Amino acid sequence: MSESVIQNNQNNQTNSGTVLISPHLSSSVQSKSAPIQLGVMASGSGSNFAAVAASIADGKLNAEIKVLIYNNPEAKVKDKAEQYEIPTVLIDHRKYSSRENLDHEIVAVLKAYGVDWVVMAGWMRITTQVLLDGYGDRVINIHPSLLPSFKGIRAIEQALEAKVKITGCTAHLVSLEVDSGKIIMQAAVPVLEDDTLDTLHARIQVQEHIILPQAIAIATDQSHKL
Ligand code: GRF
Repeated sequence: MSESVIQNNQNNQTNSGTVLISPHLSSSVQSKSAPIQLGVMASGSGSNFAAVAASIADGKLNAEIKVLIYNNPEAKVKDKAEQYEIPTVLIDHRKYSSRENLDHEIVAVLKAYGVDWVVMAGWMRITTQVLLDGYGDRVINIHPSLLPSFKGIRAIEQALEAKVKITGCTAHLVSLEVDSGKIIMQAAVPVLEDDTLDTLHARIQVQEHIILPQAIAIATDQSHKL
């Protein structure tokens, strides 16, 4: 196995060994002169949102988050966006009569903020053609399994139930079929004997925070073929 795919830095060690990330990105700083205009959609605690925002702040990802769209008034991700002084828009799915109507509103907001690429960082809603009509192959999602294994909700529970020894996370382009678009980047982590949902999720999330910013760099760089 090539040394380039086994990254032996501190972030890639777990309490049971080395984590595998592929593809290897030689430099995390994109050469593009104009920053990528991102819109982030999230429903939860926002740790992936914060990882992307921190990568940008650290100069590792040449991008700008124009807006955070969140669908749950209680979502902690809103506070994270405010810490970075990023505009937030609440679009509560419960107020829309169909998934398509919800996505029409989302696309309108993303366009109004000048968003070029969309990142679903824990967005727990099913995508419709309306969003893809607006953003085509420019929607990225992070999923807590090694796709194509364990699609859909409860991916980590599915991995535990299947008693797999290795799982991980996948950054991929979004397509109409849930968790089935082109894979951009994956990281593998071991499943330990005494893992619970929480311990395994925490181990996976460390890797999500590494690969999501890098996957954005790969997907938005014309020199990479997906
Ligand atoms: C992540 O584990 C992601 O894989 C899943 O939702 C979770 C969001 O976590 N789709 P956070 O809100 O980014 O902490």
